[in-house]
Amino acid sequence: MSTDLMPNRYRPGEATLSPREEALIARRDNVLGASYRLQYRRPVHFIRGEGMWLYDPDGRPYLDFYNNVPSLGHCHPEVNAAMADQAGRISANTRYLEPRLVDYAERLVATFPSEINRVVFTCTGSESNDLALRIARFASGNEGVIVSGHAYHGTSAAVAAVSPNLGDAVMLSPNVRMIALPGPAGVPQAEAAAFFEAQVRAAIVDLKRRGIGVAALLIDTIFSSDGVWVDPPGFIAGGVDAVREAGGLLIADEVQPGFGRTGSHMWGFERHGVVPDLVTLGKPMGNGFPIGAVVGRHAPMDRFGNTARYSNTFAGNTIGIATADAVLTILQRDKIAQNALAMGLRLRAGLEDVARQQSGIQAIRNAGLFFGVQMGRDGMDPAGRRAMALDVVNALRDDGVLVSTTGANEDALKVRPPLICQAEHVDAFVTAVKRALTTVGARAAGGWVTRTRQP
Ligand SMILES: Cc1ncc(COP(=O)(O)O)c(C=O)c1O
Repeated sequence: MSTDLMPNRYRPGEATLSPREEALIARRDNVLGASYRLQYRRPVHFIRGEGMWLYDPDGRPYLDFYNNVPSLGHCHPEVNAAMADQAGRISANTRYLEPRLVDYAERLVATFPSEINRVVFTCTGSESNDLALRIARFASGNEGVIVSGHAYHGTSAAVAAVSPNLGDAVMLSPNVRMIALPGPAGVPQAEAAAFFEAQVRAAIVDLKRRGIGVAALLIDTIFSSDGVWVDPPGFIAGGVDAVREAGGLLIADEVQPGFGRTGSHMWGFERHGVVPDLVTLGKPMGNGFPIGAVVGRHAPMDRFGNTARYSNTFAGNTIGIATADAVLTILQRDKIAQNALAMGLRLRAGLEDVARQQSGIQAIRNAGLFFGVQMGRDGMDPAGRRAMALDVVNALRDDGVLVSTTGANEDALKVRPPLICQAEHVDAFVTAVKRALTTVGARAAGGWVTRTRQP
């Protein structure tokens, strides 16, 4: 497992920067402090975005295959117009009668299976998971939470305490149990469902014996921070049944896979053929405007709402709703998920071609336009694979293409382009990966060693 919490980052002295960039980084460090890290060995600076592209101050375009928040593309003109139009009328909260709030809530729940028919708005994915945990604990009367071994669910105290991905220095809750996933554990696909269910059942037994009980199985249905583990579809179902038998709820964290990214479905949990009790939303919901939600079955949500006082100053405000409404309209009108499916197939075929021609790609995992591309060569140890992934990410960055890394060992490329990407973008990306593997391979003749200085 990687001990570096963000391997793909700027480290002073590793790259030659312009005096202007050095000065900005010094001021930034001085005022923002240690919590903020810059991505890539040579940080990027963008002043404009449009569709699939980001532009630096010199006008150099970068192909964005990483940012999943602007899933309709950067600075979508219709989304921006809806946001500006509402900002010019009124920005108010959910305590006033507002037809658009109700219209949007109805349209949103209509995209879910019929059992899921309530929505509460939030501002971020972290807040969605925080609220979902409160509801699950309230409804079940239990405290325990089961998560995947390298899960990330957000920044609040409660969700950081169930996010092992944050590293050893961040205290986990005594009520959380981490389970191994079949893919990273090397379990064959035919045995994946049984393995997952056995992991969940063992966690339930442990939680019960300690008098904690299980409130929820909380999972990102594409397991993005675990390295993107998507197959076989349905492998989580037995574990979900086990949690329900024990009185717990399924919380599907759709912050990453939701809103059509998997291509075949609007929501990641649908690939697995399960219907959650609570679903948490964020990132792409406002294409950049901070809006999220908890969507769920009426029984736990009404029990919580009727008993606990819940109010939220900004969530569900009129500007956020107008923006999210425009996003959903465009997503449905322009058949964005279908595009994600088609482009995902094209990208997979392209990367498979590269893997056949060049060494360096060990496995390709994807659902729609969310890819984990496992880097490495036979015989390479985990540190070598991680160094190689980092070298490829930074070679791509130098070539004007954005991706990053994921997984417990941070040795897989995390590839998540905006969902509007077209064949020309996919083909350009595949060509860039080919180039990056050649560049990095040539430099690393004699062993994959992370360079200490950019050329
Ligand atoms: C799966 C998952 N859940 C929750 C969050 C937290 O969302 P936010 O950063 O909007 O609070 C993230 C953020 O990366 C995420 O990937």
